[in-house]
Amino acid sequence: MKRSSRLLIVSNRIPVRRMRRSGSTSWEQSSGGLVTALAPILQQRQGTWIGWAGNTGRAPEPFSLDGIRYQPVSMTKGELDDYYFGFSNRTLWPLYHDSVRAPEFRRRWWWPYVDVNKRFAEAVAAAARPGDTVWIHDYHLQLTPSMLRELRPDLRIGFFLHIPFPPEELFAHMPWRTQILEGMLGADLLGFQTAAGARHFAAAAKRFTEAHGPAGDMRFRGRHVRAAAFPISIDVDRFEMLAQDPDVMARRDRLRARLGGNRTILLGVDRLDYSKGIDIRLRAFEELLKSGAAKPSECVFVQIAVPSREEVEDYAQIRTDVEQIVGRINGEFGEAGQATVHYLHRNIPQPELVSHYLAANVMVVTPFRDGMNLVAKEFVASRVDDDGVLVLSEFAGAANELRAALQVNPHDLDGVTASYEAALSLSRADRRKRMRSLRRAVKRHDVFDWADHFLEALTS
Ligand code: ADP
Ligand code: G6P
Repeated sequence: MKRSSRLLIVSNRIPVRRMRRSGSTSWEQSSGGLVTALAPILQQRQGTWIGWAGNTGRAPEPFSLDGIRYQPVSMTKGELDDYYFGFSNRTLWPLYHDSVRAPEFRRRWWWPYVDVNKRFAEAVAAAARPGDTVWIHDYHLQLTPSMLRELRPDLRIGFFLHIPFPPEELFAHMPWRTQILEGMLGADLLGFQTAAGARHFAAAAKRFTEAHGPAGDMRFRGRHVRAAAFPISIDVDRFEMLAQDPDVMARRDRLRARLGGNRTILLGVDRLDYSKGIDIRLRAFEELLKSGAAKPSECVFVQIAVPSREEVEDYAQIRTDVEQIVGRINGEFGEAGQATVHYLHRNIPQPELVSHYLAANVMVVTPFRDGMNLVAKEFVASRVDDDGVLVLSEFAGAANELRAALQVNPHDLDGVTASYEAALSLSRADRRKRMRSLRRAVKRHDVFDWADHFLEALTS
């Protein structure tokens, strides 16, 4: 990348929280993986991050925090309903996650999606200097690349999709498929979590637009467009460091003791999303107990679920379903003072999250479909003791790299139950062998390498 060219990051949300303390307000950076990876690059290159600040009505004034300039984009209440909850999270999200819930194709959500994408493109066009590099993120903003190119053909434009790009036959259901593909094709480089994602995109682009040529070098309206896999990762050093922090280790010990000393701990950590397979993993645990293969006095399940998109009916429903299963298992197998499933419906600070990763004997990650799944990588990075077993869905992007996990098909209830039995019976030597292999895979490249590789490819 030319040293003089600045970097602009564009995503639906800017990674900050507004804090109100004793009458005054200030901004605080949130601790997501994306901001961790991009902060050093943005600080070095006087970067700007453009996105929604989480409020409706007038956008807050642009501000700087820790060397990064943030430029909030406005959103009306109607746009939040139609662009974010509607088109992004009731049309695109389910369609791109293998239609595990039926995507809703509503014409009245489409135009607000176009309008908000346009607003983002205009905000970038106004903020960018000649020759700057722009990196647009995720499914909320698939039209922004071409809208921006029209306004500012001098810019270098990259786009990364954090969620899966679905197979061509599934994507074909989308009534606005050509517009979406043409929108994305406005970028010079399109990044996907997996090679399959890049392939699916290229197949759809060739079928529904004028694009032609191989994924790695497509031609579209006289330009070159490249689509390739850039699997995202985590800040591996940070998780290793937290895992060795005496406070975190002491928390781990207290947690183990509270959960009942020698009981085997199974752990789930997710956003409360129907794509994550939280219901199936709890039902598999219930079957394990019912069959007598494990006794409630000997094992316990801890499920941490962050509230998410609660205004959407399918999210409210999965919460009800999960809470019913938790209640049913505890009703049948729990004792006074000894729950069989512990369910926490809240955000927890990262050190506490790591103490849970360390306390777990078995980490259960069972999405029906997931772009990558960072929780699986965080668990592995935290296990500096080379212990713990990872049960991982073969439909998570992370399954491509985490080969030494016990991989499962989350649609196969018996298979998931059998994977718990297998996990519980692995010897210490087998666990160590698998965990070492998983750790080698996770340490091979971290989120900083991911950002470097993408930006290098974009500007070369
Ligand atoms: P998604 O992006 O779909 O939510 P990922 O597994 O890729 O799924 O990323 C989830 C991120 O959210 C991880 O970095 C994880 O540490 C974090 N996270 C998950 N559950 C919690 C929680 N209860 N509290 C705080 N952070 C959480
Ligand atoms: C996934 C998406 C992100 C999104 C995050 C949280 O990771 O890929 O773009 O920010 O979920 O969802 P939310 O709707 O709360 O932003």
